[in-house]
Amino acid sequence: MIGLFDRLARPLMRILSPEDAHGLAVRALALTPLAPLPPDDPGLAVRAFGLNFPNPVGIAAGFDKNAAVPDPLLRLGFGFVEAGTVTPRAQAGNPRPRLFRLDADEAVINRLGFNNDGESVVLRRLAARAHKGGIVGVNVGANKDSADRGADYVRLIEVFAPVASYFTVNVSSPNTPGLRDLQQPDALDDLLARVVAARDRVSRNAGLSPVLLKIAPDLSLAELDDVVGVARARRVDGMIVGNTTIRRPSSLREQARANEQGGLSGRPLFRLSTRMLAETYVRVEGAFPLVGVGGVDSGAAALAKIRAGACLVQLYSGLVFHGLGLVAEIKSQLLTALRKKRADALSDLVGTDAAAMTAEAWPD
Ligand SMILES: Cc1cc2nc3c(=O)[nH]c(=O)nc-3n(C[C@H](O)[C@H](O)[C@H](O)COP(=O)(O)O)c2cc1C
Repeated sequence: MIGLFDRLARPLMRILSPEDAHGLAVRALALTPLAPLPPDDPGLAVRAFGLNFPNPVGIAAGFDKNAAVPDPLLRLGFGFVEAGTVTPRAQAGNPRPRLFRLDADEAVINRLGFNNDGESVVLRRLAARAHKGGIVGVNVGANKDSADRGADYVRLIEVFAPVASYFTVNVSSPNTPGLRDLQQPDALDDLLARVVAARDRVSRNAGLSPVLLKIAPDLSLAELDDVVGVARARRVDGMIVGNTTIRRPSSLREQARANEQGGLSGRPLFRLSTRMLAETYVRVEGAFPLVGVGGVDSGAAALAKIRAGACLVQLYSGLVFHGLGLVAEIKSQLLTALRKKRADALSDLVGTDAAAMTAEAWPD
């Protein structure tokens, strides 16, 4: 069924504008009857942040911003779904066009700017499917015109606690002016103090509500020192490394499109984001688990993220170029790698290359 979906949908997607193609994909997913897959091989199971993930491959934030299709995504074989970014009030985002495909580079540039339906609509959708289980996290952000951005994050944690498996505090989107400044030490310390206090408050009634911090791959190593220091001191539950990059590697072939403003994702982000993951891993020293995101488009890329320090991975752009069958392919390649290494569990491989990676030349 997934193979058929990919064969029918992908030629059509090439004709449509990237944003229309995405909207169509989400609608088609909502309508396509997908039978549940057999359970994942136990070798793929991961325990992190107090949650049991059936497999380590998640769909990254941005694909299902409004929680329209978390269950179809879980039925496709994702081990977890991250809805959002959601802001308290609905937002239209930036003017179109604001999403660009760099086909020759297998990359995407977006400057969507947190377009989303707002907390009440998304909450209604998540509440209606809450009994179905599965790991569905909520990625939270601040409204563009918010007077107190920290209050937006706190509010969203309070609102979504009953229906969210975990929260991602997104301070790393390049498309909301000033948002990335929340990664600066004083601002981050203040934000995380408030967010973690909200987490501890809601968990008394709603149960476990782990909070993960999602960072930009564009931080300098000195800035990363500070970010990890604050995250550890404030006892977040994990970090996601990372969001899209505002850099443009010189290797990009679609130079004209590369000039579009926004965050770059997909294959050209792989080396930078994996290096930043390894740099984060050596600084975190096991204090909490990491999620690796950026350019995952094969089992080998997912395995490289794990060896750089991720216990879970997420992807988005890879789906655009490789189709929905990519999830099953990555899982099967991870199992093969596990058997070849005679490892019992993926956790045996987490971070095994991190130190060596940090000694390599800095990626372009
Ligand atoms: C079209 C698009 C929209 C995105 N929207 C969000 C978002 O709302 N919140 C967020 O934290 N990340 C967002 N991201 C970033 C992804 O979650 C991910 O961190 C990034 O794309 C790198 O992964 P990839 O190379 O597998 O796409 C978006 C990415 C794309 C391509």
